[in-house]
Amino acid sequence: MSAMNDCIVKVDNLSLFYGTKRALYKVNMDIPRQRVTAFIGPSGCGKSSLLRCINRLNDLLDDVKIDGSIFLDHQDIYAKSSNVPALRRRVGMVFQRPNPFPKSIYENVAYGLRIQGINQRKTLDEKVELALRKAALWDEAKDRLHDSALKLSSGQQQRLVIARAITIEPEVLLLDEPASALDPISTLKIEELISELRNQYTIIIVTHNMQQAARVSDVTAFMNKGELIEIGTTSQLFTNPSKKQTEDYLTGRYS
Ligand SMILES: Nc1ncnc2c1ncn2[C@@H]1O[C@H](COP(=O)(O)OP(=O)(O)OP(=O)(O)O)[C@@H](O)[C@H]1O
Ligand SMILES: [Mg+2]
Repeated sequence: MSAMNDCIVKVDNLSLFYGTKRALYKVNMDIPRQRVTAFIGPSGCGKSSLLRCINRLNDLLDDVKIDGSIFLDHQDIYAKSSNVPALRRRVGMVFQRPNPFPKSIYENVAYGLRIQGINQRKTLDEKVELALRKAALWDEAKDRLHDSALKLSSGQQQRLVIARAITIEPEVLLLDEPASALDPISTLKIEELISELRNQYTIIIVTHNMQQAARVSDVTAFMNKGELIEIGTTSQLFTNPSKKQTEDYLTGRYS
């Protein structure tokens, strides 16, 4: 499958334990570069856990143990020498509920740049505008850049958070149910945005909504009970799954 040839993220025999509870079982997965990969599967199957492993967000929790590894462009992100802040600049993340900072629209988007020590007004102005344009929010935000981000609607806030994630030009964007808290029109905007961004970034999206996975992704991974059951092109997986478990899930024959 040509979409899978150039892999940016390689999940290698990854198991994850929360205390004694095993949430991921020996997951192996190649994630293609500059494509959209969707993780689907029943609630509690480990989609968010796996997504969080890709930028080491689980490191923030106590009592988490990880076996196996994940490679980003052939570098082991769990190696002792791995630089986690640098990893998080390369792998951005957006959560289910929009979480803008209680700052202006402009400062939300400029945040990652300021952390990198970029404070020159002209550079910030240019990069903030570019990110807001890419996130399809510029037209709605350009006359209120210095208003509080908290005054935006939740759909606008989610696009703002995506703009905040992309200002620093990550290579990989992780989206955990980015539209599930949004109304249908905002959901459509987020889906359009994902389609726009797919040529520039590698996007990995967790979604409960199978129609959404079918609409936005190139590759789909079906997980169940902490295991990867099947990964393939979205069209193949939806029309001709190779595993019975996948078929049962897609046809709703699943508890
Ligand atoms: N911080 C945590 N501490 C302990 N157990 C956790 C933690 N986070 C997740 N789990 C458990 O790990 C398993 C996988 O959870 P995860 O959130 O990855 O599933 P999910 O597929 O994203 O589910 P959903 O679709 O409901 O978001 C679940 O059994 C969950 O209860
Ligand atoms: Mg989840």
